[in-house]
Amino acid sequence: MTVPSPDAAAFARDLCAYIDASPSPFHAVASAVERLEAAGFEPGTPGDGPGPRYLRSGGSLVAWIRPPGACAGFRVLAAHTDSPNLRLTPNPDRGAHGVRQLGIEVYGGALHNAWLDRDLGCSGRLAVRDGDSATEVLVRLDRAVARVPQLAIHLDRGVNDKGLVLNPHRHLAPVTGLGDLEEGAFLAAVAAAAGVDAADVLGFDLMLHDLTPSTLAGLDDEFVSAPRVDNLLSCHAAVEALCALIRSPAPTPSTPVVALYDHEEVGSASATGAGSPILRSVLDGLLAGAPLDPGASLACSVDGAHAVHPNYRDRHDANHAVELGRGPALKFNASQRYATDAQGAARVRLAAERCGVPLQAYSHRADLRCGSTVGPITASVTGLPTVDLGAPQWAMHSARETCATADPLHLRKLLEELLRS
Ligand code: CO
Repeated sequence: MTVPSPDAAAFARDLCAYIDASPSPFHAVASAVERLEAAGFEPGTPGDGPGPRYLRSGGSLVAWIRPPGACAGFRVLAAHTDSPNLRLTPNPDRGAHGVRQLGIEVYGGALHNAWLDRDLGCSGRLAVRDGDSATEVLVRLDRAVARVPQLAIHLDRGVNDKGLVLNPHRHLAPVTGLGDLEEGAFLAAVAAAAGVDAADVLGFDLMLHDLTPSTLAGLDDEFVSAPRVDNLLSCHAAVEALCALIRSPAPTPSTPVVALYDHEEVGSASATGAGSPILRSVLDGLLAGAPLDPGASLACSVDGAHAVHPNYRDRHDANHAVELGRGPALKFNASQRYATDAQGAARVRLAAERCGVPLQAYSHRADLRCGSTVGPITASVTGLPTVDLGAPQWAMHSARETCATADPLHLRKLLEELLRS
């Protein structure tokens, strides 16, 4: 029995609140901004004077604390705001047999089965006509407006033996109501929820989310059961670590920066993804012509790690069985799917020793294709030495994921130590 400490449980509950406030990447940025502003951050540009500032762009955000003197080295914490889900197509209304449905695309590498038989809300952003331009309006419907009903076992007798195969176009179209197909009906409801005229909605980025609230789980609250643990756990820990520098100020040897990116789950190649110039341009602005000192810098790509699954132990390398509740894992991959190298690992291990946080090491089974993170891309775009690390979790890319209650606080402490050292 491993009962989480009261501090760890409180921090995990705060993570649940952050996740529930953030059904889309745009909301994840808005919730991060709320926390940053409460700590004293203001919107700004790197050209502004010393102090805590942030810059947001859609589902991405960069925040920094500019020191009074010159900047040469940086401590960057990078994470992603997006998670695999179901996204509405531009003309979403469809239907058959008196049932109204939505056309969707699967965003990222979702586990399709996880979206069945769930009460789904809808969230995202609308581009709303404002004279001759458009303004962005965030919207969320936290009612069970959509669901994807599973096929009864009597109509699919072999499913438990052969496995469930779901064609995203044919089998994942959510139902939204009864009645004949009516073009624009769903968007009209979304526009009404946003308080805007449906005729003024010129564009949208809308997606579905599970409505079940995040919760601590297990006999002794050992687990966090929540959607979007990958990667809102890391966004939350990074933002809280940065805010801690304001709440307990002390000079830092390098300039602290947090970058939260959209579009990691689809490859990061976008105007707001890790492949964009957004972070590099902030660093250049902070350098103000001075040369970057890579030796005084470190970027940490913070993203979920696969905890060993007790029912599938053979899917893991036995020498790198990362366990829930035993601290963040440094992630290694010889093909640079993860960016950690010897020097970076040493710096993180020293930081973990200083702040008393346990650290694990992850390496994917050599015969399975490894996932990746914003780490290698951040290293390529910025030239900063980079490491990959993150909290262990189960069911990555499910609509509902699990991590340990103890690990978010471990991660936050480690990230704060990395920003301060
Ligand atoms: Co991730």
